[in-house]
Amino acid sequence: MEADSLSIPAYAKINLSLEVIGRRDDGYHEVATILQTVDLADTVTVAPGQGLTVECDDTDLSGERNIVWDAALTLAKYAGVSPNAHITIEKRIPVAAGLGGGSADAAAALHGLNALWGLNLPVTELVSVAGSLGSDVPFLLTGGTVLGAGRGDQLEQLPAVETTRLLLVAPCGTITRKTPTLYGALTPDDYSDGEQTRRLADSAALTAATLTSDSCRNVFTRAALEIFPGLNDVWERVAAATEFPPCLSGAGPAFFCMPSDETEQTKVAAALQNTEATAYLIRTINPAHAV
Ligand code: C5P
Repeated sequence: MEADSLSIPAYAKINLSLEVIGRRDDGYHEVATILQTVDLADTVTVAPGQGLTVECDDTDLSGERNIVWDAALTLAKYAGVSPNAHITIEKRIPVAAGLGGGSADAAAALHGLNALWGLNLPVTELVSVAGSLGSDVPFLLTGGTVLGAGRGDQLEQLPAVETTRLLLVAPCGTITRKTPTLYGALTPDDYSDGEQTRRLADSAALTAATLTSDSCRNVFTRAALEIFPGLNDVWERVAAATEFPPCLSGAGPAFFCMPSDETEQTKVAAALQNTEATAYLIRTINPAHAV
């Protein structure tokens, strides 16, 4: 039986650690990463429709160019149903910032369409459908705190991080073909063996309330500070105003400092005056998607 319209939060992610071990033969890179969902979220609503429509409040992201379009077609093909749905997306997650916004929308759409079309596929099957859509989509189907290996799609659930507030900074603007460009800018000197990520995953820092951005590392930091126009300035301003150092998320340009609070957010907002960057005070979250 088909469900009525359903609204699903699509949570952003940050990387508490991100190492690149090396290049693979399939054009991807082997990574070791710890992914964490945060409570900054888009809203994806799926409703019955004739044919497929994808409407986003950021009109540049409406229609076939949205990853949600591919997610709907991929799921419909897999399940052998017609892709009939009207999908609307309210964006709050900055686009192409290293926060997994598009992937989060795709994951939420897969959950929503699974219910709308009465498929009742278990999440393990949605994960296998999600692999072809993007490296972060499998993780964002469940969220929480996860150790990622392979191209970021081999996932091991870790004990949940205690809810921690963090300051997320999104410098305005990104670059075209961002992720391949940033991977392409890495040199073997940037590679490491993944040991630091595995140590952090094993450590008490992830389970106790002692996780700080001081223990977070990201392989793209050097390249991102060189490549994103204006990032270096925003980074320095924030670093001077926060207790814990900035750590890049994904391939950037968004970065975070943790833990944080309102007083620090006010200081950072003042430091970012006359820049196009935005600072958000958000929390880690372990969503238990109803599946
Ligand atoms: O998987 P996703 O669509 O996010 O990847 C975009 C691009 O980023 C890939 O086509 C590839 O060039 C690069 N990438 C990579 N290694 C990864 C993930 C992404 O080289 N582990």
